[in-house]
Amino acid sequence: MTRWCASTAVTTSNFGLAMAADAGGQCAAMPIKAEDLRCGSANGFQCPGLYNPQDIVDFSSLPQPKELPRVRKAAHLLDAAYVGKFEEAVRRMKALPHDDPRSFERQADIHEAYCANHYKVVPAGGGPETVFDVHHSSIFAPWHRMYLYFFEGILGDLIGDPTFGLPYWNWDTPEGMMMPSIFANESSPLYDAKRNPRRVRAVIDLNLSPGSKDGLPTCTDDHVCLIDNNLYTLYRQMIVETPKQFYGGKFYNVELDDEGKQNHKITGSLENGAHNSAHIWLGDPCQKNQDMGDLSTAARDPIFYSNHSNVDRMWHIYITKLGGGFLPYKEWLDTSFVFYDAQKRPVRITVSDVLDVGKLGYMFEESGKLPWIGKRPKPAANIQRHHGLKGTQTNSSYPMTLKKGEPQYLRLERLEKSRAGGGSSKKAPEALVVDVTIDPCKYVKFDVLVNVPKGQEKKVGPQNSEFAGSFTQVPHGGGLEMKTRMVSYQFALRELLEDLKCGKDNQLDITLVLVEGDKVLIDDARIEVL
Ligand code: C2O
Repeated sequence: MTRWCASTAVTTSNFGLAMAADAGGQCAAMPIKAEDLRCGSANGFQCPGLYNPQDIVDFSSLPQPKELPRVRKAAHLLDAAYVGKFEEAVRRMKALPHDDPRSFERQADIHEAYCANHYKVVPAGGGPETVFDVHHSSIFAPWHRMYLYFFEGILGDLIGDPTFGLPYWNWDTPEGMMMPSIFANESSPLYDAKRNPRRVRAVIDLNLSPGSKDGLPTCTDDHVCLIDNNLYTLYRQMIVETPKQFYGGKFYNVELDDEGKQNHKITGSLENGAHNSAHIWLGDPCQKNQDMGDLSTAARDPIFYSNHSNVDRMWHIYITKLGGGFLPYKEWLDTSFVFYDAQKRPVRITVSDVLDVGKLGYMFEESGKLPWIGKRPKPAANIQRHHGLKGTQTNSSYPMTLKKGEPQYLRLERLEKSRAGGGSSKKAPEALVVDVTIDPCKYVKFDVLVNVPKGQEKKVGPQNSEFAGSFTQVPHGGGLEMKTRMVSYQFALRELLEDLKCGKDNQLDITLVLVEGDKVLIDDARIEVL
């Protein structure tokens, strides 16, 4: 019997590469043809990219850019001339006819198609069909880099300026934490009326804390506290142990792995962190008419591209300043997609083409230091530390339902080799892995706390070591029907345990707190060595 392997490369022409097991149980790559990709026509939506396969040109065969690099600048620091250029480029893009693949509408449709479940992989050689999505896996970072690269190239071409770079929303520095004012001018093509009106003139909350009734975070009267919390939140997102934590896991073509166990896609911290918060900040997911709050509409708001320009910059910083690496496996490096370029040519580009922004011909202009780098959270002073959940009834039967106002308390075993003074001399990096099943059309956020006594959950926040982080999901409404999505997140533990001085403990007490959303099914939680 043919078995289908769990993880696959996604190839250009088909967005999916089925891998069939040979007789020995080994996975062999088996590419599917272009015609195996079906676009779901839910609500009459038309997927972009109706090119002829024989017209595709390979990015690597195109001449390398010779002009000066495109320079991406912080959006809140642009001078009037640059704002004028940006506006003119977007104005011209919006004026292109709908059937022009460079038009603003069709560009936004690209995101909708890939991010709101409009593509399905139907392998030619048989095997399960899969709904395709560029989120919740390591495809997130390179796919959005490619998308922005072509989008930026079209903008530059429309104003005849090959040095034009997409300004970034610099939410990782205090001066950049409000929505840049260039997006607030109602007569500008950068404006979008479909935003959360309460938040367009407020400092962003990257932790999306449960707020007072107007949706603002609890520490909002004190901007210093909010800004500080944002920097701690960024620290947790950026200072991770392994590239997999940062980028996420492989793209799974099937729901079951080789052993018949259900696969959870692993979301990376780059996607899960400030990126998701910026979406939710400007688009309240409960208000169906706010673009940024749902991935099917997000790219209709011009600020989407500046949010992603900063996400792309964070990736660049991870590599160049934090010593981060790339994922080593071929399925990732060979993953490829086709985008239209400024000359309306369909161009095939692979992940290995986009690992170095210098080779792509752009750079980020930095305005100063990275204030989050030194923001390592500290143990909370106001709780009875080290007692954890002693005496509290813990839950260990999965799946368990996490509801608002009803935290789940877990006691998890650590592996011998990762404990300080344990078997091996070198401590292995550990992570708390939480597998969940969620509704893809709903917003969800839950927080994970370590060794916090029952009833004291509200006393810890991103500034504290006990706060391991949050899992978030931006809704993906729209396309092919998908009732549930299985996702996993890895919360880094090493620094946190060092700071809490519990590196020798055999067990950890974990509290899961649902902050937003109706409910989340927790399929499993465990401590793993990365
Ligand atoms: Cu494809 Cu910010 O999302």
